[in-house]
Amino acid sequence: MRRIVVAGNWKMFKTFQEMVSFCCKLAGYASEFEELPVTSIICPPFPYLHTSVEIFSATDVHIGSQDVSMHDFGAYTGEVSAPMLISMGIEYSLVGHSERRQYHQETDIEINLKVKILQSTGVVPIVCVGEKEQQRDEGKTDEVVTSQLETIFADIDIAADTNLIIAYEPVWAIGTGKTATPEMAQDVHKLIRDWLEIRYNKTIAERVSILYGGSIKPDNFAALLAQPDIDGGLIGGASLDIDNYLNLLQTGIKIAQEGK
Ligand code: PGA
Repeated sequence: MRRIVVAGNWKMFKTFQEMVSFCCKLAGYASEFEELPVTSIICPPFPYLHTSVEIFSATDVHIGSQDVSMHDFGAYTGEVSAPMLISMGIEYSLVGHSERRQYHQETDIEINLKVKILQSTGVVPIVCVGEKEQQRDEGKTDEVVTSQLETIFADIDIAADTNLIIAYEPVWAIGTGKTATPEMAQDVHKLIRDWLEIRYNKTIAERVSILYGGSIKPDNFAALLAQPDIDGGLIGGASLDIDNYLNLLQTGIKIAQEGK
């Protein structure tokens, strides 16, 4: 059974004080549960990782980074590596977010290297894929997403017990207020799950969580989660506000408790 995942991607937002305030409120909520019925992940900017891990230490809230270096150690000024992340208790890392691809020219080949280093270190990758607006308009969504998956996972072995998350984030829906309809998102999620079954096997296809991302809000999350292959959300803007994030978490918990 896949757990619902409610992951917040804060991008380059919040001061240190705002981060502490949000995390303390979320920790207060989470401390009411011995174990949250859904997987709650927050991905703050790098400088806040250590403090956020500390704030959530007695709770079931997990921390992820927004990116990782493709190298383990070395003279790479400004980079943060997977061994550093795991040594700080960071359990997840986004890789291949469209903003990294757009503003830092990150390629699928680099994302492949990042996934490998995360896997060898024990950090769970949250691998982002998705088409641009023009590619969707030209009917190329399936081709683009499949090609991203083929390159990113080209030489990556996945064991039956490997933890892996894939996030389908149509680029045209990120931060634009334009959400894919639940049916549009489900079609691509199904394509990704079918691809996993062909590339690996049915057990792995059933195990990997596939999140949708792109203008998720409290009022559209439940309909997205109702789709069979949508296992959660990677949420940008709406995850910055504690009330919105708690609302999204509660939606996930309600659906999990009703037995998705
Ligand atoms: P958004 O961002 O929810 O603000 O559209 C999603 C993301 O970039 O992960």
